[in-house]
Amino acid sequence: MLQPLQIIRLSPAAVRDAAAVLGAVLKDAVDGGASVSFMADLTLERAEDFWCGVADAADTDGRVVITAADAQGILGVVQVVPAGVDNQPHRGDVAKMLVHRRGRRQGIGTALLVAAEQAARDLGLTLLTLDTAQGSAAERLYIQAGWTRAGVIPDYALMPDGVLTGTVLFYKKVGG
Ligand SMILES: CC(C)(COP(=O)(O)OP(=O)(O)OC[C@H]1O[C@@H](n2cnc3c(N)ncnc32)[C@H](O)[C@@H]1OP(=O)(O)O)[C@@H](O)C(=O)NCCC(=O)NCCS
Repeated sequence: MLQPLQIIRLSPAAVRDAAAVLGAVLKDAVDGGASVSFMADLTLERAEDFWCGVADAADTDGRVVITAADAQGILGVVQVVPAGVDNQPHRGDVAKMLVHRRGRRQGIGTALLVAAEQAARDLGLTLLTLDTAQGSAAERLYIQAGWTRAGVIPDYALMPDGVLTGTVLFYKKVGG
């Protein structure tokens, strides 16, 4: 890693305070062609609104938002979201794993994933799940981090440019 990295869990209020910079990280990912729920016309305002919504959700659903920051500020983020249903008290989702293009391939995604898995254990979760675009850098990241590839759903979502992509379902047991 080129610079010291700070991995921090943010309170919901801190997520709200950081919504603009987190929005810039989200928009950078979409501008770079990542399939993360948004299309290419995503604006900074809408991206910031998304994070304000995450802050509101974190107030009630117990999700953990973890950021990575270097000397220039926040450049990565990931969430652990408890399943929130009575029959899955042990399961959560890893969501919106994002590393700004200025910091990629330096181990930041891996560091966020390690922190997310620890956060899940701290929440008492033993099973994590996620899905990611087939053939993406993220698919490689999760395989390298020891996640199990459960299968592929073809034509699941649109890439930012409107082309359909499959999604790969992953899981990892993190405790129990
Ligand atoms: C996926 C993402 C978070 C990875 O972040 P990162 O900080 O670059 O990841 P790391 O440096 O920890 O990479 C770990 C491993 O993942 C794999 N990997 C990461 N990026 C890759 C790429 N572009 N091509 C191939 N493999 C890649 C490699 O195996 C890498 O290990 P290596 O560098 O030793 O070869 C980042 O590319 C990103 O934000 N992408 C856009 C958003 C996105 O798709 N998020 C996933 C939503 S589920």
